[in-house]
Amino acid sequence: MGKARVAIFIGPKGRGSNMLALADSLAQPDFPGELAVVISPKSDSPAALAVIERGVPLAVVDPKTAEDYGLALMEVLREHRADFLCLAGYLRLLPKPVLDAFPNRILNIHPALLPKFGGKGMYGNHVHEAVLAAGESESGCTVHFVTEHYDEGPPILQKRCPVQPDDTPETLALRVLRLEHIAFSEALRKVLEEAGFGA
Ligand code: GRF
Repeated sequence: MGKARVAIFIGPKGRGSNMLALADSLAQPDFPGELAVVISPKSDSPAALAVIERGVPLAVVDPKTAEDYGLALMEVLREHRADFLCLAGYLRLLPKPVLDAFPNRILNIHPALLPKFGGKGMYGNHVHEAVLAAGESESGCTVHFVTEHYDEGPPILQKRCPVQPDDTPETLALRVLRLEHIAFSEALRKVLEEAGFGA
């Protein structure tokens, strides 16, 4: 069936480190997918600028100004012939037309071991603060399919790391982020291969 075309969604403030890790994997000849487009709400965030610097197509769709956000996203996804979507630091719920058009084809990464520490408002350091406050001995990341609810779709894979007694939200976030960069590509490869795509 050949390579799947993958669109990556980023948020307004993200560093884009997961997006860049995915972009690296999608550029490998033996990966079962290729990068179709990065969709960002802003053209001047550090992540968006990194996309432009790489020469990867960047589509700017701002939910705050788009007349019909769902329709605008669908137009971009059709134009770039996207088969799968990856959410890398995208903090919103996707509009229904997009969810309906890509059943079991949208992946998200979350910086904790879901179903714990997920849901609305659980992003960035809030997640790691909650993990530390709960006295957990381990944390990690989860790649999961996306539904109409925050962080609730079926998990695809998890990676774990210890929580150290002297961790701050920042040190824990960094340990988890290193896992995220490996986990997202691994999960995407698995899903694409299971769907019949290949290099
Ligand atoms: C990551 O921690 C990811 O798990 C979460 O948002 C963060 C994005 O970081 N969904 P980055 O922009 O990819 O560096």
